[in-house]
Amino acid sequence: MAEKTILITGANGQIGSVLAKRLAKIHGEDRIIKTDISQPEEEWGIFEFLNVIDTDSLVELIETYDIGEIYHLAAILSANGERNPRITWNVNLASYLNMLHIAVEHKIEKLFFPSTIAVFGPTTPRENTAQDVPLLPSTVYGMSKATGEMWNQYFYDQYGLDVRSIRYPGIIGYQSLPGGGTTDYAVEIFHAAIDHGVFDCYLNHDTRLPMIYMEDAINATIDIMQAPSEQVKLRYGYNISAVNFTPEEITAEIRRHYPGFKMNYTPDYREQIARSWPSSIDDSAAKNDWQWQPKYDLTQMVDDMFTNLTKSKSHV
Ligand SMILES: NC(=O)c1ccc[n+]([C@@H]2O[C@H](COP(=O)([O-])OP(=O)(O)OC[C@H]3O[C@@H](n4cnc5c(N)ncnc54)[C@H](O)[C@@H]3O)[C@@H](O)[C@H]2O)c1
Repeated sequence: MAEKTILITGANGQIGSVLAKRLAKIHGEDRIIKTDISQPEEEWGIFEFLNVIDTDSLVELIETYDIGEIYHLAAILSANGERNPRITWNVNLASYLNMLHIAVEHKIEKLFFPSTIAVFGPTTPRENTAQDVPLLPSTVYGMSKATGEMWNQYFYDQYGLDVRSIRYPGIIGYQSLPGGGTTDYAVEIFHAAIDHGVFDCYLNHDTRLPMIYMEDAINATIDIMQAPSEQVKLRYGYNISAVNFTPEEITAEIRRHYPGFKMNYTPDYREQIARSWPSSIDDSAAKNDWQWQPKYDLTQMVDDMFTNLTKSKSHV
């Protein structure tokens, strides 16, 4: 029997644009159906317009392409979400509940849901935050993802839907730009160091957040999706952890490459969001269950970012 195809929603985003290429390498370009609401920057493989709110079009694509696996990345992120809570809820949660029902009806074999450290809130212990703690998120983004996690577990328990999920920390990569989250500064700072030698940070100098290099985030996604089903014991969303740092600490790392780099601090509303999130994460469940292991520490990540960014900027 021919292998089924893979649908990615939000495929033009920071993660989707990188994940789609990795999946194409593994499964073949003709088996990856990239979808989004805007035209992709790079033209390759199969792309279809899909607004995830439009369930009829989603069903049509599933039937047309004989979809067997879905990576549901489309979302409005934490900082942008606060500007329009109602739209954020509809895109992130209402459409996801439809997606879960459609996945059961159309016998989707595996569904990936990207959760986030934003499911935690100001009452969560900030250090070494455990897998199972009370969730009381303070952003509509966090609320939508925490509710999505509960639906994940429900659909697994009630309908046997093979849904798998990771709580990503802030993602840092050279391949793509971030899309309106609270951790965006940790990507923007690299571009600023190369292009301008100065960066105005919207967080305080000592606000520590959990982060992960893109390579590790993609590996984690592939690993959990390829793990034997019985190893994926938690269906709502696994904590994963790689690096954590403050703006001051990443500035020191950047000055190893750009000694004259200047950092200013003008905290805005994102500082308050960041303060409601953990500063470090306990990911022992992911390590035990499906052998999650990050490869990049802070120094390796910074070195690799500059190697790749300077290369790509010199080609522009
Ligand atoms: N990047 C991170 O640091 C991070 C951290 C934790 C979780 N996540 C989660 O991972 C997923 C991907 O994140 P990302 O960083 O690539 O986000 P992004 O903002 O870069 O990309 C999201 C994509 O979704 C698309 N989109 C928005 N509304 C849509 C709609 N109605 N229909 C279809 N597409 C729509 C956007 O056009 C965009 O291309 C999201 O669900 C996000 O919550 C990301």
